[in-house]
Amino acid sequence: MELTHLLRILLLAAALPLHFFSRADAGEVGVCYGRDADNLMDPASVAKLLTENGITMVRIYDADPAVLRSLANTGFKVMVALPNTDLPYAGRDVSSALDWVKTNVAPYYPATLINGVAVGNEVFEQASSLTPMLVPAMRNVQAALATMGLADAIKVSTPIQFSAIKVSYPPSAGEFRDDIAQSVMKPMIDFLQQTGSYLMVNLYPFYAYASHPDQISLEYATFRPNTGVVDPVSKLPYTSLFDAQLDSVYYAINRVYGDSVRASMTQASGRRPTPIVPVKVSESGHPSCGRIGVVATDADTESNWEGTIADAQAYKNGLIRRVFSGAPDMADVSAYIFSLFNENQKPGASTERNFGLFYPNGTKVYEVNFSHGGVCPSKATWCVANEDVGTARLQAALNWACSNGADCSAILQGKVCFEPNTLVAHASYAFNDYYQRMGQASGTCDFSGAASIVNRPSPSICDPNPSWCIANPAVGDARLQAALSYACGSCADCSAIQPGARCFDPDTIFAHASYAFNDYYQRVARVSGSCDFGGAGTILYQAPARRGSSVALGAASRRSTGAVSRPPAARPILRPEE
Ligand SMILES: *[C@@H]1O[C@H](CO)[C@@H](O)[C@H](O)[C@H]1NC(C)=O
Ligand SMILES: *[C@@H]1O[C@H](CO)[C@@H](O)[C@H](O)[C@H]1NC(C)=O
Repeated sequence: MELTHLLRILLLAAALPLHFFSRADAGEVGVCYGRDADNLMDPASVAKLLTENGITMVRIYDADPAVLRSLANTGFKVMVALPNTDLPYAGRDVSSALDWVKTNVAPYYPATLINGVAVGNEVFEQASSLTPMLVPAMRNVQAALATMGLADAIKVSTPIQFSAIKVSYPPSAGEFRDDIAQSVMKPMIDFLQQTGSYLMVNLYPFYAYASHPDQISLEYATFRPNTGVVDPVSKLPYTSLFDAQLDSVYYAINRVYGDSVRASMTQASGRRPTPIVPVKVSESGHPSCGRIGVVATDADTESNWEGTIADAQAYKNGLIRRVFSGAPDMADVSAYIFSLFNENQKPGASTERNFGLFYPNGTKVYEVNFSHGGVCPSKATWCVANEDVGTARLQAALNWACSNGADCSAILQGKVCFEPNTLVAHASYAFNDYYQRMGQASGTCDFSGAASIVNRPSPSICDPNPSWCIANPAVGDARLQAALSYACGSCADCSAIQPGARCFDPDTIFAHASYAFNDYYQRVARVSGSCDFGGAGTILYQAPARRGSSVALGAASRRSTGAVSRPPAARPILRPEE
């Protein structure tokens, strides 16, 4: 079953060209610092944790003095909240709202860079009787901020649940629920537009996937490569459920303005609606374990979890990538990851307690890189010799590379990359060393046609300091399989471990995971964490044994970081492995 699954991922991966980096930067990533727990590290340690992880934006669910003080002079942008319990007062009149701002915002700003006030939280669901108060409270808080001279720096908004959208598929049909569309959303959007603010929406593709796993693929729901979904009306292709949900919110916003906007949206088939106000994703995440609809118990075991570490990791790194790198044809977006910690007192299903990036003590649940997002480096390319040009041209190009900046010391006789002693291996080493030193600049892997660029680490390029990433069987097959799917669905090329391909045997999860982890590791240039896989990967500095693991197969992929000069003599040509 796992192999069928793997194959499906591979086919989907092959079918979809990836467009990371197609646009310059876009939004900003933050975290939700929820505190429904009795075992969290103290706020001062949290500030340190955020700094260490390169996190720049934080959302809290109140305006707790200790938390706000610990975030002072850190440079973090902080969104505070006026809780639902305070909404009736803030909604009553400006002076009540002013009291709130004077107590909860003004004393901390600007040492703590408060950049927003979330007025209420999921009011339509969590405090529906207060719905009529919501927009008045937002207006009063805005007026209070203006009185204090803070209205430019601090925006007012309110986080709504995605369930405020009555129709979300296809995205172009996006529409708010009838009971709120005209009565609440329209005046709210007017207000947000007038104040230069944004609508906050909590987006959880996980819940849509979990309730329709037969209709929605896990890959589509977790930012993994997939075939995508085309909106039959707008004809826009969506490669993630996140973007489809986000766009349905944009369509819903436009739709509250009625028929004229509706007509222009339909006409402009293939065009996204022009945003009336931006949407900021106020929560988004995927649980690392737990079961929906099942309250947490000590008897929960990994085998019945609906969330997995690999899925949560794929989702969160995918989200970071999406925010930082944009997506073709999609709006820029900022998003707060839910959540910073696993929170042991969150009510509801066991999944609720397992959305954290960190355990309460600050240990990572899985690797997430906030400055990087686990992006497969688009620039990870290598330069290899093209043996078809013949010995004379290869030798001339090799001589040129070694005397024009490539460090060829490692391929000298007796040195670590002298073997395999072939012209093509030595030329590949030298060409790649030159190419990497030139920063992979365009035109630096040509050598008059004697070289070509490959987008995977080639086994024909010797690495003087090799290391490998292999699977750790101790974590068990379920976690290995999840990590294998993640590796194959993100940066690893798993075509060689498909049935019938050259590394299919031995046909074990351990061997396939080792192959995939190592491929990922070599491609992602061995940054810290690229052999983590939620604890399922281990780095080796000695060639792994062939037995049981597919890693050794030349895919040891020695890569260059070379050292000195002087071209070696010409060598007979052998065929490179691939
Ligand atoms: C932190 O908590 C996790 C989960 O309970 C545990 O596995 C880990 O060992 C703890 N780390 C430290 C440093 O105590
Ligand atoms: C995160 O990614 C950046 C950019 O690739 C890298 O410089 C940094 O070392 C990474 N951090 C971790 C903790 O992996």
